[in-house]
Amino acid sequence: MTREVHVGVLASGRGSNFQALWAAEQAGVLGARLVCLLSDNPSANALQRAADRGLQTRLVDAGGKRGQLSETAQGEIVAFLRHHEVDLVCLAGFMRIVGRTLLEAFPNAILNIHPSLLPSFPGLEAPRQALEHGVKVTGCTVHLVDAGIDTGPIVTQAAVAVRVDDTPETLSARILEQEHRIYPEAVRLWASGELAAHGRRIGVRDRIDTRAPRANDASHHSNSEARP
Ligand code: GRF
Repeated sequence: MTREVHVGVLASGRGSNFQALWAAEQAGVLGARLVCLLSDNPSANALQRAADRGLQTRLVDAGGKRGQLSETAQGEIVAFLRHHEVDLVCLAGFMRIVGRTLLEAFPNAILNIHPSLLPSFPGLEAPRQALEHGVKVTGCTVHLVDAGIDTGPIVTQAAVAVRVDDTPETLSARILEQEHRIYPEAVRLWASGELAAHGRRIGVRDRIDTRAPRANDASHHSNSEARP
């Protein structure tokens, strides 16, 4: 029997997304086990939350330039994750850019959650960016992490309507509710092995690209045929 998927979390702040993942695991709907959490911030609430829930935790000195991770830090993170036999890495409010060493150690196995409908409003303060732009709908995105900032292939998204009287705080709060719903769902999909990539397009295996022509399949050639 293959063992369950091990998840390692990287977080820099309050850790509400970590909490949502943990709650999903407790409810038996994550399809994976949270095993460890690393942070670059000694006062991150996420560190305490994880320790209180019995996870192995590690504080890492990020080193390097602002917003980056030094080679030493990446090596330390990879070693810690490998020690705990981590299969999937979840960035949950991690305020550092993941470097090449980490990316190469976990190909297609690092997820991030971002509070906008990417590719709109990447980077910092996405809800504020959305308000300043005047969009009527924003939301959140779970994506695979690549070498860019918030540029990786999208796994799942949720939309949130913007209200005329929204502030960055009120909008962020409603987006966060959706984050807590879609992040566990994305982890469950990843862990189930159901995700399939077609270039940048990620779908669920057996539910996309099922229209291969079959013998005597007249419907394949008709645009008006609806699929069951
Ligand atoms: C979330 O809004 C997430 O989208 C962004 O950072 C925030 C982290 O919040 N990447 P929390 O630490 O999970 O509460």
